[in-house]
Amino acid sequence: MIDGWAGQIHRDGAGVSAPLRNPVGAGLPEPAIRTATRADLDALVALEHAAFASDRAERRAIRYAILSPTMDVLAALIDPPDGDPTPVLVGAAVLERRRGSRIARLASIAVAPNRGGLGLGGKLLDAAEDRARAHGCDRLRLEVRADNGAGIRLYERRGYTRFAVRPDYYEDGMEAWRYERAL
Ligand SMILES: CC(C)(COP(=O)(O)OP(=O)(O)OC[C@H]1O[C@@H](n2cnc3c(N)ncnc32)[C@H](O)[C@@H]1OP(=O)(O)O)[C@@H](O)C(=O)NCCC(=O)NCCS
Repeated sequence: MIDGWAGQIHRDGAGVSAPLRNPVGAGLPEPAIRTATRADLDALVALEHAAFASDRAERRAIRYAILSPTMDVLAALIDPPDGDPTPVLVGAAVLERRRGSRIARLASIAVAPNRGGLGLGGKLLDAAEDRARAHGCDRLRLEVRADNGAGIRLYERRGYTRFAVRPDYYEDGMEAWRYERAL
């Protein structure tokens, strides 16, 4: 994760609503991305536990993020195949802004383990970048564990460049690599 993003947050109520393509097709339903609501809280907490082994955001931090005027929680959801009306959360991203700054921060991005490697991380990143632009930001920054191969590959393939290292950043002492990209 990008790190303990507990602390601040928002929601402007505007859904991203980006229809997603599933690159492997094969009958898997396509997730849609929208702004999370408090009704998504249980699923967001479960996703946090499934996707991260450490440095997890606590429930109260996620709730705070949903409600904060300076944070956007984006949820990727699929309709269950059996007609159950409750959508299934398969990914999420958290965008954080500071008033007066045009630099946004990707505070977290996570994909359900059984949905990894299908391009959803990239789609969530697209949605977070679009949301940051909509807020008038012109740069997106993030931190990633130095041993997070999937995260690093995702960011570097999408034009993010490493501009700093933060030693002893995560709970276990692992350093963070800081990346940024012009939007
Ligand atoms: C990082 C994460 C969001 C990527 O999501 P995803 O949906 O698997 O991402 P994508 O399918 O768009 O793949 C992104 C790239 O990573 C690669 N990748 C996927 N899993 C990988 C793995 N375990 N090791 C190395 N590379 C991996 C993909 O092949 C792809 O590269 P490509 O475009 O060259 O093919 C997801 O792995 C995740 O939620 N991990 C746990 C939480 C986390 O670490 N979040 C990021 C914190 S900074």
